[in-house]
Amino acid sequence: MSEPFRPYEKLVDITILGTKFQVPERNSLLRCFQFISPETIPYGRFCWNQECQYCRVSCQLPDDDESREMLSCKFIVMPGMEVTELSQELKWCLRSKLPSTPAGTCLRVNRRINRPKL
Ligand code: FES
Repeated sequence: MSEPFRPYEKLVDITILGTKFQVPERNSLLRCFQFISPETIPYGRFCWNQECQYCRVSCQLPDDDESREMLSCKFIVMPGMEVTELSQELKWCLRSKLPSTPAGTCLRVNRRINRPKL
């Protein structure tokens, strides 16, 4: 069986829009999103190599004073980090895992009409 994750020994805690998750250490943040939602992230419009920008997030790192924008396909997850903003594509893919994200057809309609805002 092909394993998409880099080898890891433990899970680390992160927060996404106020919801806590445990994800595999030593993996990119986008892989961690895949760990959380394996049924959607592999089918998102992600290039996985820092070109499309659809994986853009804002994060507050434990050792930073201010949040910073980053590409989740590039950044290796850091224990205790908080993801404070998600791209439209990531919101769509993680919608069933985030209780505050409105579920339903409006997001689907918007996704088809508009390119994701980054
Ligand atoms: S997935 Fe395309 S830039 Fe990150």
